[in-house]
Amino acid sequence: MKVVIVEDERQGVEMIVSDLIAVVKNKATTTVGLATGGSMETIYEELVSHGRESAVNFDEVRWFLLDEYLGLNADDPARYRAVIRKQLVDPLGLDPAHLYGPEPDLASGEDAGPKYETAIRAAGGIDLQFLGIGRDGHIGFNEPGSSLASRTRVKKLRPETREDNARYFGGHLSAVPTMAITQGIGTICDARRLVLVAWGEAKAEAIAKCVEGPVTAMAPASALQLHPHVTVVIDQGAAQQLQLKDY
Ligand code: F6R
Repeated sequence: MKVVIVEDERQGVEMIVSDLIAVVKNKATTTVGLATGGSMETIYEELVSHGRESAVNFDEVRWFLLDEYLGLNADDPARYRAVIRKQLVDPLGLDPAHLYGPEPDLASGEDAGPKYETAIRAAGGIDLQFLGIGRDGHIGFNEPGSSLASRTRVKKLRPETREDNARYFGGHLSAVPTMAITQGIGTICDARRLVLVAWGEAKAEAIAKCVEGPVTAMAPASALQLHPHVTVVIDQGAAQQLQLKDY
C-alpha cells in the first residue's frame, strides 16, 4: 500500500488526474471503476477540464459504477448513474452506453449482483478502481461487518451513512434510500489497481483504521492492506491520526 500525503486536495486531484490520463494513453481500452460522492467531485471536475484540453481519447474506455441506491425513481437526479452522467460523462462528451452500473430495480435486486459481476468480467475486469471512504470506514456501500470476501449484492445502509448523504437529498434524511447495491469487498479487490482518496479531518479516524489498523470486517477499507497495488491519496487533515505519518 502506497500512502501519499499531499499538501491539499488540489494537489492530490491534479496528481490523480494526470495519472489516469497516462493510464488511458497507455491503454485505450482501460476499464475504470467510479466512486460517487464529495471526495470524487473535484477529481471529475479536473478530469473534465484536463480531458478537454489534452488530446487523450476516451472513446474506448469503459466506466463502471461502484454502487447504486435502490428504490429511487428512474429519473431521480440522486441516482449515482445520473450523478456520474452530470459530473463526468456528459461534460466530457463520453458515450453514455460506455457507463455501466448495477441494475437498481428493486425487483431484480437478487439477480442484479451476479449480473453486474458478469458485465465486469466481460469487460476484462476493472483496471483502475477509484474509492472514497465513509467516516465509518466503508468502501462502496460495504458497511462495517461486511464480509471481506463479499461480491456485488444488496446492502442496508447504516444511519451514519444515510445522515452523511442527506445533503444530496435536500437535507431530508427520510428521502435517503435505506438500501443500496454495491460491489463487494472481494469484487473491489479483484480490480488490478485501487486508488482511495480522502480529504479533511472528518476522515482521519477511518484512514488510520484503513492504513494502520488490523484487517477487520469492522473497518471494511482495511481489506485494502491485502491488495498488491493500492494508492491512498490523502490531505493533511485526513492524515492526522496516522501514527507513522512522518515515516
Ligand atoms: C459512493 C461510495 C461511498 C463514498 C463514501 C465517501 O459511490 O462508494 O463509499 O465514497 O461514502 O463519500 P464522500 O466522498 O461523499 O465523503
